Amino acid sequence: MQVLHVVCLLAALGLSAAILPKSVDYTGYKVVSVLPKSEEGLRTLENFERQGVIKYWIHPAGLNRPASFQISSSNFELVSNVLAEQALSPIVLIDNIQELIEKQNKEILERQLQKANSKAFDFENFHTYTELLAFMQETAANNSLVSYSVIGQSYEGRDIGQVTVRTGSAGVKQIIFLECGIHAREWITESTCIWIFDQLANGYGIDAEITALVDKFDWIIVPTSNPDGYEYSWASDRLWRKNRALTDNALCPGVDLNRNYDANFGGDGSSPLPCSETYHGVSAFSESEAVAIRDSLAANRGFVKAFVSIHSYGGIWMSPYGYIKELPLEYDEMYRVMAIGCEAITATYGTPFEYANEAAILYLTSGTTRDYAYVGGDNIIYAYTIETRGKAYGFVPPPSEILETAIETWNGIKAMAYNVL
Ligand SMILES: *[C@@H]1O[C@H](CO)[C@@H](O)[C@H](O)[C@H]1NC(C)=O
Ligand SMILES: [Zn+2]
Repeated sequence: MQVLHVVCLLAALGLSAAILPKSVDYTGYKVVSVLPKSEEGLRTLENFERQGVIKYWIHPAGLNRPASFQISSSNFELVSNVLAEQALSPIVLIDNIQELIEKQNKEILERQLQKANSKAFDFENFHTYTELLAFMQETAANNSLVSYSVIGQSYEGRDIGQVTVRTGSAGVKQIIFLECGIHAREWITESTCIWIFDQLANGYGIDAEITALVDKFDWIIVPTSNPDGYEYSWASDRLWRKNRALTDNALCPGVDLNRNYDANFGGDGSSPLPCSETYHGVSAFSESEAVAIRDSLAANRGFVKAFVSIHSYGGIWMSPYGYIKELPLEYDEMYRVMAIGCEAITATYGTPFEYANEAAILYLTSGTTRDYAYVGGDNIIYAYTIETRGKAYGFVPPPSEILETAIETWNGIKAMAYNVL
C-alpha cells in the first residue's frame, strides 16, 4: 500500500511538472458584476461560462440577484457589449485582479517582517499549509484539551490534519464539526477556522462563554481540507479552486471537492467536464480529500450535532438541500437556527448577512459536503454552508480583513451552538 502510494505520487509529480504553469498572471483580468433580469440573460451568462470565457466568483442565483465573474481584458469588450444588450448592465468591481493579488502579497510580507521577532502565531496574517499544520500540532502538544490527528492524505500525499477540542473522552458529548478551505482560493476560511480553533483551545477556563461551549460540546475542526489546492494557490495560481488530481484531460487537472460527495452525486449544479470549475470527478468519493471528511464523520457517527462548511465569500448562510428545490423535512428547524446565527453575525459589526435554503432560493449544487452531512447517513439537521463576508475584495482580501471575518463568523457559530436542540 505504502509503496503503491509513493509510485502514484511520483507519477503524478512527473506528469504535473510537465504542464505546471509558472505563476498565473491575472494582469488586466477584471471582476464584473451583473444583475440578470431575464432568463435569456441568465442563459447568456451560462453560455459564456461553459465556453470558459468567464469564471464565476458569485454564481448566478436567479433573476435580480447579482452575480459576478472574472474575465480577461481581451474578452472584456466583446462580452460586456453582449451583456449590455441583454440589459445585464455589467459593472466592473475589480479592474485588475493581478494588482489586488500583488497588493495582498505585499501586505502578507510586510506583516511577516513586522512579526519576524515574535514566535507567536500571527492570526491576522495568512499562512501556508505547512504553517497551519505546525500550529495545530504544536497546540496539541501544549494543550491537554487538544488532540491532532491525520484523517487522510491528499492526492499529492499531504496530510489532512484535524484538531479536536474536548474535555473528557470521546463518545460522550455531542460534536460540532467545522470544515474550512475545501475551495483552494478561499484563504480567509483557513484563517477563520484556525482562529476559532485557538479561541476554543486557549479560552477554556478563561472565557466563560468558551468554557460553557467546550463543556457542552466536543469540537472537531479541519482547517485546511484541500491541502494540494491550497498550496497551489500560494505557489502557482492564486485563484485555483479545485484539488490537484489529474483528470482525463491533461490540460485540466482538478476535481471540485465540494461536488464529489455522495449527495445526489453528478446532478444539477455540478459538471462532468474536467475543465469546469465544478467538475464532480469520476464517481462519488473518487477523491481522497472527500473520503477523509466522510470517514471522520463516520468515525463520529451519532454524535455530530452540527456540521458547518465554511466558504468565502458573499455573506450568506445556507441550508440543505442544494440539489433539489423541495425543502427538507426539518427545514423549519434548520431555518430557525440559521436565522439566529445570521443575526449574531450582523450584530457584531453590522455586516449584512442573508440566510436561505440553497436550492430553493439560490442555485443548485449537487455532491456537496453539507448535503452529505445531512443525507449521507448521519442526518445532521444543522448542516450548513457559510459564505463569509467580503464583497469588495472577492477571494483576495487583505490580511486586515481576517480578524473581523473570524470574529463575526465565530459569533454566528456560537449562537448556532447555543440554540441547537
Ligand atoms: C508550545 O509551548 C512551547 C514551549 O512553552 C512554546 O514555545 C510554543 O510557542 C507553544 N506553541 C503553541 C502553538 O502554543
Ligand atoms: Zn467555496
